[in-house]
Parts: sequence; structure tokens; C-alpha cells
Amino acid sequence: MNIPILTIDGPSGAGKGTVSRSVAKRLGWHYLDSGSIYRSLAIAVLDEKIKFEDIAEIANVAKTMALEFDCDEELAVRLNGIDITSRLPTEETGNAASIIAAYPEVRTVLLQKQKDFHKAPGLVADGRDMGTVVFPEASKKVYLTASAEERANRRYKQLKEKGIDANLVRITEEIEKRDRRDQERSVAPLTAAKDSLYIDSSNLSVDQVIEKVMNLVP
Ligand code: DC
Repeated sequence: MNIPILTIDGPSGAGKGTVSRSVAKRLGWHYLDSGSIYRSLAIAVLDEKIKFEDIAEIANVAKTMALEFDCDEELAVRLNGIDITSRLPTEETGNAASIIAAYPEVRTVLLQKQKDFHKAPGLVADGRDMGTVVFPEASKKVYLTASAEERANRRYKQLKEKGIDANLVRITEEIEKRDRRDQERSVAPLTAAKDSLYIDSSNLSVDQVIEKVMNLVP
């Protein structure tokens, strides 16, 4: 039997994480937060003080790092046995992740780690290239976006709620810069899969988005 996959791609801060987690929970399916894999690698690279230009060394770290995911209510991640969950959402981590995610060598190494999440009874996969590159065979695909202004506002609130220091103007600039980098990279750029349902969540509540996504799944 084919194990079903629902992919949810889109830019940073569009609400993919909240929506994907909730849909996965309702369906009783596994959940892949692919951004957290790139973010975990970014933390390893920052901690080991590897230069962003040293692509071979970054790819090597990607190959050898041990990641453990625990996705109950919230996602918890251990990198080489150490809990890095609280460091995942920071802007520093997100920016570093976006830089190293542009390297084809890194993406190739991380491909299998993402495919490994495809297990019965089903998978909700959240990222930038889930429906286009990692799981092109997925039967249901969503492209979830929102205006940069709205996404920056949401990210700002999220960070504040987590007690992380944040600056709205800087976050807006960073989001626009990250969008450009993710969309313009030569390999697996952020783009809507042709067969995806396009949802602009700028004026929708989380529940409305979840309902639209749930309507896709039989
Ligand atoms: O979704 P996120 O903000 O956690 O992702 C952080 C960065 O990781 C994002 O700016 C680009 C990269 N990324 C990617 O290139 N491909 C994915 N499937 C997921 C994330």
C-alpha cells in the first residue's frame, strides 16, 4: 500500500509549522519539520565555528551529525545527544540555516534524512521543497504563504512569547532577505509545486487554514 504524504511548503513565517503539526496530529500521521534539520545543522556549524564558505566541511558535519527528533506536543531535537530545542527558533539559527541550505552538497546529504520520515500510516512534511524535490510523488500538496509584513508580525510575536529578544524592523528585513535567498538559490528553490493548492493566509485564521488543508485529505 502507498503510504500517503501531504506536503506543506512556503516561506518563513507563513504558519506552516502550526498548521502541519495540527494536521498531522488530527490525522495521526508522522510530522517532518524539514527546516529544523537545516537549523540543527546550522547550530552544529556555528558551534564548531566552521566558516560558511567551507562547504566541504559543512557537508561533512551534515553527514556525521546525529539527530534525534521527539514530536509529542512540541518538537524537541537533540544534536549529538544534546538538547538544542530552545536554540532552533532564533533568527541567528534561521539565517545560518538559509545560507547553508543553498549548497547543493548539503541538500544532497540531508535528502535521505528527510525521506526516512516517510512511514506508515502517513506523513505531513513541512518545508520549502517537500512537494517539488523531496517528495514529488506526494498525492496532496499545499503552498502556504502570507505577505512579508504579516509573517514578520507573527514571527515577532512568537519570539516574544518564547522570551526571545526581537526587533520587528530587523525581522521584516531578515524575512525579505531570507525569502530572496530561498527563492533565488539554484538548487531546490522555494517555489509552489504545479499540483499544489495555493493558500494565502494573510487574512485567514490558523483554524481556517487548517480546515482548508484538512479538506484536501479524504
Ligand atoms: O522553515 P524554517 O524557517 O525553519 O527554515 C529555515 C531555513 O532552512 C530556510 O530559510 C531555508 C532552509 N530550508 C530549506 O532550504 N529547505 C527546507 N525544506 C526547509 C528549510
